[in-house]
Amino acid sequence: SQITFVALCGSLRRASMTRMLRATLPELAPEGVRIVDVEIDDLPLFNEDIRAESGTPAPVKALCETIAAADAVVLCSPEYNRMVPGALKNAMDWISTEPGYPMSGKPVSVMTQSPGPRGGNMSNYAWRQVLSVIGAEVVPGPDVSIGLMEDKVADGKLVDEAARKLVSRQLGQLAAWASAG
Ligand code: FNR
Repeated sequence: SQITFVALCGSLRRASMTRMLRATLPELAPEGVRIVDVEIDDLPLFNEDIRAESGTPAPVKALCETIAAADAVVLCSPEYNRMVPGALKNAMDWISTEPGYPMSGKPVSVMTQSPGPRGGNMSNYAWRQVLSVIGAEVVPGPDVSIGLMEDKVADGKLVDEAARKLVSRQLGQLAAWASAG
């Protein structure tokens, strides 16, 4: 039987190393896990007037439906100014106010990266604060805060063995949680 993880990327730029991390997930996930990438760059800035005046924007609706149908979410994120990046926070703000609350009770893995030595660890833990408020269940297990990322990617993928092992263990943990329901 197959389970599905939705993978979100908190950086919008094409050459993003966070995107490279996300691109590596399929080959590091346990057998039977399907990774579905969803983009967030077409979401408007959160504004309740938009929903009130013209309904939930189509890309928000699509994102919410995909998450609702998935077994778990993998949040891949950079760190901006020691905090979570605005674009992905904006997505979470939309999701958290959409009836049905698709992130509520959803198993989530948080993975951060940085060219710096600490791997965006402050962003990683700031995400847990946001996610706990919206009722998501952040999976424990090895911290995936990959530092010195520039040395660990090649050809658009994460190639560092130690980091790959960490991501793989975290995905295994997420699959176990998601399967346990
Ligand atoms: C950064 N960067 C950064 N890095 C870090 O480790 N801690 C930080 O607080 C910040 N702050 C920060 C703010 C802003 C506005 C930018 C643009 C960048 C550096 C950041 O980690 C680096 O640009 C990464 O490459 C961003 O991830 P992507 O775009 O490669 O996925």
